[in-house]
Amino acid sequence: MCGITVRVGDGSAVPDLLSGLENLEYRGYDSAGIALQNGTGIDVVKSEGKIDRLQEALAGKDLHGAVGIGHTRWSTHGPPTDENAHPHTDCTGKVAVVHNGIIENYRELREELAADGHVFTSETDTEVIPHLIESHLANGADFGSAFREAVDRLAGSYAVAAIAAGTDAVYATRNGSPLVLGQDTDRYFLASDVPAFLDQTDEVVYLQDGDVVRVTETGYTVTDTTGTVVDREVETVDWNAEDVGKAGYDHYMRKEIHEQPTALRQTIRGRIDSFSGDVDLEGFPPGTFTGIDRVHLVAMGTSMHAAMYAAALLTENGVDAEAYLSGEYAVSPPPADSNTLVIAVTQSGETADTLGAIRAIQGTNVRTLALTNVVGSSITRECDDSLYIRAGPEIGVAATKSFSSQVVTLSMLTQRLVQDITGTSVENAGSLLESVSQIPGDVQQILDNSTAAAVAEKYLDSDAFFFLGRNTCYPVALEGALKFKEITYEHAEGFAASELKHGPLALVTENTPVFVLFTGEDDQKIISNAKEVQARGAPVIAVASEASSAAIDQADDVLSIPKTTPKMSGVLGNVQLQLVAYHAAKELGREIDKPRNLAKSVTVE
Ligand code: M6R
Repeated sequence: MCGITVRVGDGSAVPDLLSGLENLEYRGYDSAGIALQNGTGIDVVKSEGKIDRLQEALAGKDLHGAVGIGHTRWSTHGPPTDENAHPHTDCTGKVAVVHNGIIENYRELREELAADGHVFTSETDTEVIPHLIESHLANGADFGSAFREAVDRLAGSYAVAAIAAGTDAVYATRNGSPLVLGQDTDRYFLASDVPAFLDQTDEVVYLQDGDVVRVTETGYTVTDTTGTVVDREVETVDWNAEDVGKAGYDHYMRKEIHEQPTALRQTIRGRIDSFSGDVDLEGFPPGTFTGIDRVHLVAMGTSMHAAMYAAALLTENGVDAEAYLSGEYAVSPPPADSNTLVIAVTQSGETADTLGAIRAIQGTNVRTLALTNVVGSSITRECDDSLYIRAGPEIGVAATKSFSSQVVTLSMLTQRLVQDITGTSVENAGSLLESVSQIPGDVQQILDNSTAAAVAEKYLDSDAFFFLGRNTCYPVALEGALKFKEITYEHAEGFAASELKHGPLALVTENTPVFVLFTGEDDQKIISNAKEVQARGAPVIAVASEASSAAIDQADDVLSIPKTTPKMSGVLGNVQLQLVAYHAAKELGREIDKPRNLAKSVTVE
């Protein structure tokens, strides 16, 4: 969690730092701050609240400095206050540090440093870092050695950047938290994520755990854990600055919902061979998974729902597959051996719980595959192989297009897995792949005709919102509820339709609308579940295509989806539920892109 930015170059660093922080605000928005090397000392300006509060704090200040660091915070240690905002400084005010991650041994370090006379001004774990650097500088080390020695004392996950009075070099390192370097013709940047500086440059270096980078106006040097200079490849990212802007939409979430047809086309492009009716996944030819007899999917949040969707598809086609919350998998991995494939599903590739799950099985012979949106993200380095969902940058905290692209990628991967593991094809493979090819157009149809805004408005004053589905639509019901609760702050829950009468039905009243997902397959059972809630006075909103005409006839309202194969209808139904959540949150005046207490990338366990 948290976003860090660094800028080194000619002219004032302030505009670049602020724009970098704005682009990283999705990572946290509890406080923001910058520190500048002013030639003789360090200037720090920071404030509790979002970046506009920092801008107010900066107004009228005559700051100079071409070298600076910045931070936007998602609180872990200590509440969001001015004191806990980064950058943090040492006792002398000559060292300033920004940090993303958690320093697990900060208590011991803090006690040790306090016993040596260091005075702490915040409750954060981060503040031990500038004091450690200070004590090594006091012992005669130069800034680079002091930085490295301080970092050597840290346990936990971190991306750290530091500046010091009297030197124009920035030192930074990473261990378990992301850090990317960007190079422009006359400036260098460091950041937690590429969008921080994508409007300036698309040339990046993905730093690796243990790397220490020294950046000055004239260049940069990367050394590894042993201090040996290493050559890290300069890559060109294929996202552009417009991809990460709002493109005229009120919110990133709305933009990303509407980008789904394009994102899905990118996801599918070149991966379905319509001639042979087979999938063509780059790097995963037929036979790739021969020998695998069990698949574990690990993920959190929305990615977990995509993982459950895939597990249902695989199981139905004879593959032993199970989806696990990464956080649980990490503490107690189920039996797995060299015939097990573990697929880490994560949009960002930086979710600490999911990285933890993969680390928990490292050193075993288990095969691992990262399914992610972010090229070069940490998960791609932790896993044996990577498959990209190609959804493009997703900035809104609420995951939308990434879910659609995850499910579609996993559906194609399912085809390969089923063939390699069972020796047969996915049931109705031809029509499944055809419906996958049609998904971008189907989603466009929903976006053009959706009545979700009216439905959201009609039920806005309800006490709670429930979502029901079966089979592949069970995770979609969970996803519909997650989306609704995280951006509206209203009580929303998703259930497997069969589970309702085993307890949750007690919550159902005339003031609890129930969204029911129909697939056109075995609708009768779920129609019975819908009748059960209607009998208790609850309105039923059917999310259904014309294939579910019986369900539509009996519903109070309908969110219509184009007719598709039953296995793909969940992807379409989910788009309607995204729109319902969006419009309800908008009516309620919520901060849609930055819901309270949340951040886009959860890089702490
Ligand atoms: O980057 P990841 O896919 O690993 O993120 C997992 C969850 O943190 C994420 O899906 C979260 O639940 C979203 N806010 C849901 O909209």
